[in-house]
Amino acid sequence: MKRRILVTSALPYANGDIHLGHLVEYIQTDIWVRFQKMRGNLCHYVCADDTHGTPVMLRAEQEGVAPQALIARVHGEHTRDFAGFHVAFDNYYSTHSDETRQCAEDIYRRLQEAGLIEVRGIEQYFDPQKGMFLPDRFIKGECPKCGAPDQYGDNCERCGAAYTPNELKNPYSAVSGARPVLRASDHYFFRLSDPRCQEFLRRWTREPGHLQAEASNKMQEWLGSAGENKLSDWDISRDAPYFGFEIPEAPGKYFYVWMDAPIGYMGSFKNLCARTGLDFDEWWKKGSETELYHFIGKDILYFHALFWPAQLEMAGYRTPSAIFAHGFLTIDGAKMSKSRGTFITARSYLEQGLDPEWLRYYYAAKLNGTMEDVDLNLDDFVARVNSDLIGKFINIASRCAGFISKKFNGALGTVNRKATEAFELAWREGEIAQSFERRDYARALREIMRLSDLANLYVAEKKPWEISRREGGEAELHTICSTALTLFRDLTRYLKPVLPQLAAEVESFLAIEPLVWSGEWQPLPQGHKINEYRHLMTRIDPKQITALVEANKESLAPVEPVKKEPAKEAGQAAVQTTTQPATDALISIEDFAKVELRVARIVEASHVEGAEKLIRLLLDIGENKPRQVFAGIKSAYSPEQLQGRMTVMVANLAPRKMKFGLSEGMILAASGNDSPGIFLLSPDTGAQPGMKVK
Ligand code: MSP
Ligand code: ZN
Repeated sequence: MKRRILVTSALPYANGDIHLGHLVEYIQTDIWVRFQKMRGNLCHYVCADDTHGTPVMLRAEQEGVAPQALIARVHGEHTRDFAGFHVAFDNYYSTHSDETRQCAEDIYRRLQEAGLIEVRGIEQYFDPQKGMFLPDRFIKGECPKCGAPDQYGDNCERCGAAYTPNELKNPYSAVSGARPVLRASDHYFFRLSDPRCQEFLRRWTREPGHLQAEASNKMQEWLGSAGENKLSDWDISRDAPYFGFEIPEAPGKYFYVWMDAPIGYMGSFKNLCARTGLDFDEWWKKGSETELYHFIGKDILYFHALFWPAQLEMAGYRTPSAIFAHGFLTIDGAKMSKSRGTFITARSYLEQGLDPEWLRYYYAAKLNGTMEDVDLNLDDFVARVNSDLIGKFINIASRCAGFISKKFNGALGTVNRKATEAFELAWREGEIAQSFERRDYARALREIMRLSDLANLYVAEKKPWEISRREGGEAELHTICSTALTLFRDLTRYLKPVLPQLAAEVESFLAIEPLVWSGEWQPLPQGHKINEYRHLMTRIDPKQITALVEANKESLAPVEPVKKEPAKEAGQAAVQTTTQPATDALISIEDFAKVELRVARIVEASHVEGAEKLIRLLLDIGENKPRQVFAGIKSAYSPEQLQGRMTVMVANLAPRKMKFGLSEGMILAASGNDSPGIFLLSPDTGAQPGMKVK
């Protein structure tokens, strides 16, 4: 019996780019879907942009466009990025759609009929200047526990305390900077505290199969024991102005973005049904015999393992078969970081000419179906892809294919069944399939690489390149190469969910039907004609990775030339005083840490031909080669005065091309608004070039 499976990935927000973190999820899901399809199951993969909410509304406003225009543009970008990584949705839609609206209204009405919607007045922070209620993330202030300034309305990044925005000291609106005021308003609540919800969730989260063990434990914690009633009612409405769906019979009230986001899964599927004639109810009615799986990150477990199943169950729909949560991406062991250049967008990866299948392979090698974080170690990435994919896999074909075309007119010979035994056994046992099914791709790939090693060993022992020179060695050579290509075919079949593009190229090179995951094991038939071998995949050059990281580095923008100075030669020097509101001027320690300050020795200072204000400096900061900086300090210093002096420079400023050459940093100097003069900073005696200033 064919299984009928509906699969989703979380809906990415429509106000940001797809980055390598997101791709952990979409690649993981895509591999699983491709595997199911190869097995012959009926499997649909749907997703959409998550378009509603305050951040999207404000972002559109900032860009001076309507939210609809913003989400249309981002939809195009997301679609392009996913396609670039071979993520093959059956439908990629939008939550801002008629289908999602219908489903949201329907679920809301059914919850209302079940007596599970309650209207209650609450007090909430309101930005009087902007005229809107503020989500927690848009209120900042001092932490009520430790007093750290500039903390968000929900928790403190310094001491980790969790609190409500009302507890913040000296709160201010992150939108306008104004002091928010408490204002009352009616909100709509989904009554999760109702015993029906509590009882259902306690049962559902414990039933085996729905959640990973880790996730199930976490849910028990959140739910508390029976009678404890830890789950409070869920506020599902927001007041205008808001970008979203207005709640029926409640003018000025909108569904909170997390209320309609998962409903976007239904909306996208409904749209697919309209296009392809599938029966929506068959898949979503209570007791449906189809399977439903949601791939998500661990950060949104609460919404998918509690709110969403409760919404579905209480509204009389089927509930998910399982939620598959994964961990977060780290790069070289740390959170992705814009200053380090590890906040890497999908687009930049592709634009730098990196092969998307390298990343698919590496992620697969790291994913094991648990909620552990996944580390992309950049050195390991290069080593792993080059040794596994090129060294172990591609190598088999590249060493044998040429002989078939040159010596045997492209036709295969007999296959040595002794040499294929281990492969036949692996196929019958189906361990690799089981690993894919359990989303333990790491395990699957280990087994596939073990088989690759066997295939390589076979080729290495038989030495076709020697036999080809031996008188009368044709028959043996023919068998060796045909056998090796049969093994290569097997490996390609196993890798196809991970490397779909490469697999398609192999299928065309071997002139075979698209590889599927069923049937008896068969060698490639004798006499079968293959096509000429073309290069299938290149090695990663570590330089490509360096370039990728460079391209994603968001160093401090060079100081904007002050208006009254001729822009053409405003150098990268001198500190500007700022008159911005204090709230905007506050930065966190992390922000400060982004600036890499180093002690520098001015090894050379010279006039710049044709520049009124600039001096060209060569700065030793302990690197192999001194850095060149053009500093606008000519009015205060002569080159002679500067030569040999120590000062402080910003070492991670994006290099800037100037009329006179490249400026590779900035030196620090003080200057006042009214009093004249520029005063170069210098460290105390004893400081050495290259020392960090912090
Ligand atoms: N819009 C919500 C999801 C709504 S689903 C009904 C959302 N969007 S998101 O763009 O922030 O994230 C989309 C998915 O990508 C989430 O599952 C999230 O966990 C995942 N990831 C986002 N950044 C990630 C990493 N750095 N690492 C791994 N996964 C990450 O949440
Ligand atoms: Zn604190």
